[in-house]
Amino acid sequence: MSEILFQPITVNRTVIVNRLAFAAAKDYLDGDTVRRQARYATVAAGGTGLIIAGAADLGNRDGWRAVVGAVHANGGKIMPQLAPLPSDVSAEQPSRLSGGEIAAMICQYADQAAAAKALGADGVEIHAAHNSHCARFLSPLTNTRRDEWGGSLENRLRLHREIYTAVRKKVGDEFPVIIKLGIEDAQPGGLKFAEGRQAAAILATHGYDAIEVSLGLRDHHTAPPFPATPPQSFIIKSHGEARLREWSKDIKALVKKPLILTGGITSPVVAARLVADGYADIVGMCRAVISEPRLVARWHDGDLSPAPCNSCNKCVTELYAKGLPLECHTAKKSLAELLFTPPPPCG
Ligand SMILES: Cc1cc2nc3c(=O)[nH]c(=O)nc-3n(C[C@H](O)[C@H](O)[C@H](O)COP(=O)(O)O)c2cc1C
Ligand code: SF4
Repeated sequence: MSEILFQPITVNRTVIVNRLAFAAAKDYLDGDTVRRQARYATVAAGGTGLIIAGAADLGNRDGWRAVVGAVHANGGKIMPQLAPLPSDVSAEQPSRLSGGEIAAMICQYADQAAAAKALGADGVEIHAAHNSHCARFLSPLTNTRRDEWGGSLENRLRLHREIYTAVRKKVGDEFPVIIKLGIEDAQPGGLKFAEGRQAAAILATHGYDAIEVSLGLRDHHTAPPFPATPPQSFIIKSHGEARLREWSKDIKALVKKPLILTGGITSPVVAARLVADGYADIVGMCRAVISEPRLVARWHDGDLSPAPCNSCNKCVTELYAKGLPLECHTAKKSLAELLFTPPPPCG
């Protein structure tokens, strides 16, 4: 049954060796490229076919080139997630941004995508889930604009569409551009599933090469620093695995592009069922892979026990509330114990 997870899949023209992705995790390792390189090299060597590099700041070009080289050297593919916070745009809410500020923001996505391509990355993911700018534009709760950027669903999706168009112009036709989309907000008055599913269909038709199904605005939608305890909308153990699977199945019937489903997945039996039964094409795992970077290789070798992650969310709170580098705080293993020595950067 788990063999289905190890079939390749093509996104745009890029072949990913299996159906398992490391979903985006911001790592606060901008100042420690060696550690970042070691983590991603280990995850790639540990069998994960696609790494989505969380909310990446691509400013350190040499560092990222080394990370990309290390992932490739270990058989993986890597797509940085783009969520630029433009330095010249300080306003949080869509309604406060001028047309010029929105245009500047769109340029930042396009420039970062071009940088990712120049670094040798295998694609980019636009962050349009959780508290991202795109999620705030899509949500009727936070987007109260009365111009072409607000109001109808088409208008609230204009930012997502303009970003795609600007990015595509910079990276050409064959470079994967995918999007992580919040399908429903965890806030009264926020985005509802009925619109979220339509949004997925519109964006796939517009050109995005794959859609990652995720949650929209959290039950608080302010920017970090988050409070010391995660919001209720964070996935916890009692939600069970693949909490968003019914959304994903519904959307898969609408969208003729690969669908990535992320959220709470820790066991290969569940992951395989999701692919076999048409819930998703690729299974995204974030905390499972944080807790065990070589998880996929273990499954491939026939040990099908789940990842050790217990959904305590300490990795989230330590990261966002305290600014500590990404780590599993429950497995209690130091990163050094978990990681290989990184291979030398390519080229
Ligand atoms: C420590 C941590 C950092 C995260 N950072 C990001 C991020 O930068 N961008 C993003 O889209 N999601 C981020 N997420 C959310 C995950 O990608 C994923 O959607 C969520 O954790 C649910 O998946 P899981 O149950 O497999 O962990 C983060 C999650 C964790 C645990
Ligand atoms: S800190 Fe908790 S939620 Fe995060 S990876 Fe470890 S066990 Fe999972």
